[in-house]
Amino acid sequence: MPFLRRVELDWERLSASPAAARAYPFGIPAIRELNRLELDADVTFFIGANGSGKSTLLEAIGTACGFSIVGGRDLVIAKEKDDTSLADILRLSWMPKVSGGFFFRAETFDTFADYIDELAKDPSIGRQAYAPYEGRSLHERSHGQGFLTFFRNRLGRKGLYLLDEPESALSPQNQLSLLRILWEQVSSGQAQFVIATHSPILMAYPGARILRFDEDGIAPIAYEDTDHYRLTRDFLNDRERYFRALFAEDEEET
Ligand SMILES: Nc1ncnc2c1ncn2[C@@H]1O[C@H](COP(=O)(O)OP(=O)(O)OP(=O)(O)O)[C@@H](O)[C@H]1O
Ligand SMILES: [Mg+2]
Repeated sequence: MPFLRRVELDWERLSASPAAARAYPFGIPAIRELNRLELDADVTFFIGANGSGKSTLLEAIGTACGFSIVGGRDLVIAKEKDDTSLADILRLSWMPKVSGGFFFRAETFDTFADYIDELAKDPSIGRQAYAPYEGRSLHERSHGQGFLTFFRNRLGRKGLYLLDEPESALSPQNQLSLLRILWEQVSSGQAQFVIATHSPILMAYPGARILRFDEDGIAPIAYEDTDHYRLTRDFLNDRERYFRALFAEDEEET
């Protein structure tokens, strides 16, 4: 069962500032249209085009939960202190409330690995810093191996896990490994996942809720109706057809 059941946006808190409501992040179409989001599955996927607002909402949920961002906040563009943030207008409904979890952002994973290396240089911590990561620096592994080491060792505590494009360094085979990890965590009843992804493999997780972000807002969609599934299927079935269209000479120029 999910822990975080619902996310609501309290637009009243922005009404004093119509300019802010039009600007980033409130002006992103999918966010602008959003009043409430039901999270009714153990695994929820955020999908949609690049720039549709998935990371923005995921990060705001993470901030509202009080999670630190794996990779550090320093890469987030600094805001004026008294600006209302998206996280400030979120209302989270829990059943039951859990405090464990984190926000994993694939883009800044290297910064996180640097941070663990820095901790290890502190004489009072030393190599203990690597204890959760099988005893050595996350930099001493490939990008994808680092991701998997992180997931294998940092999940397990009862919590809400927000993952932004966790597939990005993973081979197809290791995307299957990640599905297995998700399944183990969900089966133990200890974990809820909200995952922004472009991976047709990952979003196939049985029983997951897929929420699609677009110009009209955020709405549930069946796996087989997603562009990710359809395009991948059609491409694999007949890639020559795609190449004929993609690599066609421009009529005017010939
Ligand atoms: N710090 C920022 N300042 C202004 N605009 C931003 C900022 N960060 C993101 N945006 C804009 O907000 C929109 C949503 O960005 P977001 O990163 O949430 O998209 P996304 O759905 O996660 O995309 P992707 O699939 O490429 O990761 C984009 O149009 C982007 O240009
Ligand atoms: Mg994103």
